[in-house]
Amino acid sequence: MQNRHELVEKNVTWLAILTVVAISFGGLVEIVPLFFQQQTNEPVEGLRPYTALEMEGRDIYIREGCTVCHSQMIRPFRAETERYGHYSVAGESVWEHPFLWGSKRTGPDLARVGGRYSDEWHRVHLLNPRDVVPESNMPAFPWLETNVLDGKHTAEKLRVFRDNFGVPYTDADIEGAEAAVKGKTEMDAVIAYLQSLGHALK
Ligand code: HEC
Repeated sequence: MQNRHELVEKNVTWLAILTVVAISFGGLVEIVPLFFQQQTNEPVEGLRPYTALEMEGRDIYIREGCTVCHSQMIRPFRAETERYGHYSVAGESVWEHPFLWGSKRTGPDLARVGGRYSDEWHRVHLLNPRDVVPESNMPAFPWLETNVLDGKHTAEKLRVFRDNFGVPYTDADIEGAEAAVKGKTEMDAVIAYLQSLGHALK
């Protein structure tokens, strides 16, 4: 008992318990302050909620598994910022539920793809990527062009985002949601979503 350190080193149970305590403490010191920092909780200036059509596009993006090949998270490295633009910051994602940062890049990062191509480029690309990028191995998504939205659940989606996640939709946004998307194709919605990405931060 003269050497308490020896006690810990020789008793695997104590060693395990105290290791967990030490690591948890380190983790808490790093994580807990983030819950209270303005920088990680408040939307960046210029962030606006998705329109009804963009919101539908985002859901289709999730459904089609675009996230499996595309990240939306530019890391603060020179190689990334030169290629994609300003690195992603937490304040851009405060209204993202779930966030689509992703971890796999078979294709390029899309966090700032908005405005990089025309709507027509995206249409051709999604119908058959090889028509615009001959070496592309991205799949074609031709059904987006023929599937038409009925907007039945769009208002409900916006309401959930407002009431549960604090996204500032107005009553008018919610009332007009169905009419805003009804009759539009899934292609229109996905393109609107892609074009909305990454504008909050210049
Ligand atoms: C199997 C992997 C894969 C899937 C799934 C996939 N992509 Fe891609 N995507 C790629 C690859 C590879 C490229 C690069 C070649 C090209 O431009 O076609 C690419 C490129 C892109 C680009 C151009 C990005 C740029 O900066 O040039 C956009 C936009 C895009 N994809 C959107 C989508 C959308 C929307 C979906 C879902 C509907 C999707 N992708 C699904 C692999 C994928």
